[in-house]
Amino acid sequence: MELVELISKIVDISHSNIDLDARINGILKLIQKYVEASDISIYILDKDKRLTLKYAVQNSLVTNLLSSYRPLLGEGVPGLVAQKREPHFYSIHNIPKRFGLLLQTELDNVLSNYRRFAFLPLCDESKCYGVLLVFSSVGSLFTDNEKKLFDIAARELTGLRKLGELYIYSSKRITELMTLSEIGKVLISSQDMDSILKGIGLIVAKTLGADFARVVLKEKNGDKHLLSAEYGGVSNEVKSEIKRIEKLVVEQGKRFSNIPVLENSLVYSSPIVSKGQVLGVISVVKRNDGTANSDDNGFYLLDTISNYLSSGLENIILRSQLKDIIDELNSAQERIIQQEKLRSLGEMTANIAHEIKNPLVIIGGFAKRLAKKLELKPPERRYLNIILREVGRLESILTEILTYAKDIPLNRTSVDIDEILTDLIHFFKSDPLWENVEFAKESEARLPRVFCDPQQIKQVFINILVNAYEAMAGEGKIKVRIFPKEILKKHYVGVAISDTGGGIDPLIIDNIFNPFFTTKERGTGLGLSISNKIVLSHRGKIEVENQRGVGATFIVYLPVCDDSTCVHQNDKMPRTQGEDT
Ligand SMILES: Nc1ncnc2c1ncn2[C@@H]1O[C@H](COP(=O)(O)OP(=O)(O)OP(=O)(O)O)[C@@H](O)[C@H]1O
Ligand SMILES: [Mg+2]
Repeated sequence: MELVELISKIVDISHSNIDLDARINGILKLIQKYVEASDISIYILDKDKRLTLKYAVQNSLVTNLLSSYRPLLGEGVPGLVAQKREPHFYSIHNIPKRFGLLLQTELDNVLSNYRRFAFLPLCDESKCYGVLLVFSSVGSLFTDNEKKLFDIAARELTGLRKLGELYIYSSKRITELMTLSEIGKVLISSQDMDSILKGIGLIVAKTLGADFARVVLKEKNGDKHLLSAEYGGVSNEVKSEIKRIEKLVVEQGKRFSNIPVLENSLVYSSPIVSKGQVLGVISVVKRNDGTANSDDNGFYLLDTISNYLSSGLENIILRSQLKDIIDELNSAQERIIQQEKLRSLGEMTANIAHEIKNPLVIIGGFAKRLAKKLELKPPERRYLNIILREVGRLESILTEILTYAKDIPLNRTSVDIDEILTDLIHFFKSDPLWENVEFAKESEARLPRVFCDPQQIKQVFINILVNAYEAMAGEGKIKVRIFPKEILKKHYVGVAISDTGGGIDPLIIDNIFNPFFTTKERGTGLGLSISNKIVLSHRGKIEVENQRGVGATFIVYLPVCDDSTCVHQNDKMPRTQGEDT
């Protein structure tokens, strides 16, 4: 084949649409034919600055020997050609011993099979990609035409390797951008933090082909975990290993890559850092397939993701803190409205009660006199007794209403809430009417004390316990759980009282704290509204969790006695009426 024809064929192959490796092999085969070369191969320069024999037209002894060792840049003839970026041509008479790769003693036996050797750099102005080796067993020196051919082939091969690297780079970049765009969508979604972290875990695991991914957000200025989400599954041993690595990542604020752990897995853990502060950690576990190189495993993406996450997550944390503050503001506003409602209702009821009380006392007084004076027959006596009993009941309701409406001073002291509930449970247990009620109490060790009026707080728990008893018709299980709780940086003691009374009808649940709302034949409907008033005056709150068909749970939160609250003077419950009766 003529040189010109060959060169145009090489250029055609180089610019064809076929796979890059096939193009490179095709060019090597054409050179092999033209120069009657026995062996033709290519060393590729890797990131670690070593040469790896990657392409060979045929599987010969010399290519096997060369591929068993990776010379460093500058080492031996191939290393020197790559370093100096200059071609080297040798004959059998001047070829350096073992190509200068002195440790490869076996090369001694094979070099004598060849007559001519060419080493050509595959480099452009900016980078060296490898070295082309052409060994021929005929002739004595390479001709000028052959050298021209090598020069053109080397340029085309360099172009192809460059294109290959560009492909890899752009496909990495595309994956990276696609992943970031998916994460971006999750970050700007209006989901809660938990779902956002789960979404991120899923995207990271899928993109990296990992078996497991975990995203952890850390508490600000502490090392407690605030939130975490996981995707996929690993054994408990691997998980505890991940947690150990995460701790180091947080402490040192740097990433840990390719840490081999049990079950032949690799862990990679990267900190999410914003403004010099570690916000959290993102970790993945991948099966170790032997290519323990961070790039090959695609783990490099994790760094990009964690960088991207840092600003996004900080915004989300701020957003959720803002939401908490708005929620708290709303509930404070609701509390004020509720207190206002109670205050005006209280005033009205107190006035009415006041008006009714005097005539009622008169009715009761005269009825009693009549009962004493008159010798009545059984039906009339029964009627009078009914009048007396109902007047008595009305009087006690009025007393309750007036107590509700009255301004009761708070007599606060530092109180052990657990002790109050222990006493109450003991008290109810010793009542025969409560014999079919089973109590279970659970309280966390080292509960903080609460600064409250013990008598009034006791009344709250009595009201709730009596409601539970009534809902269960005197038979069932009451569970009391006492626990510390932090709500918006304030510390509370929570008391959750659950019953098995079937719960509250959702249709009425919004009314149960309203005064005089009752579903009971002989109830006044003041129990919960009095309790609510007492708890609000202690700056606490009552929450209800309703499980229809199972039971209700009333949770009372009382603020913990810290130094600033305990030194306050005993304050009074807000006035609900102007005048006492
Ligand atoms: N544990 C509970 N299970 C089911 N419903 C409940 C429970 N606690 C309260 N309720 C409902 O809330 C209503 C209001 O309760 P509240 O304690 O204020 O009044 P009451 O128990 O009806 O009357 P009072 O307590 O004044 O004797 C009750 O009538 C009942 O319908
Ligand atoms: Mg009640």
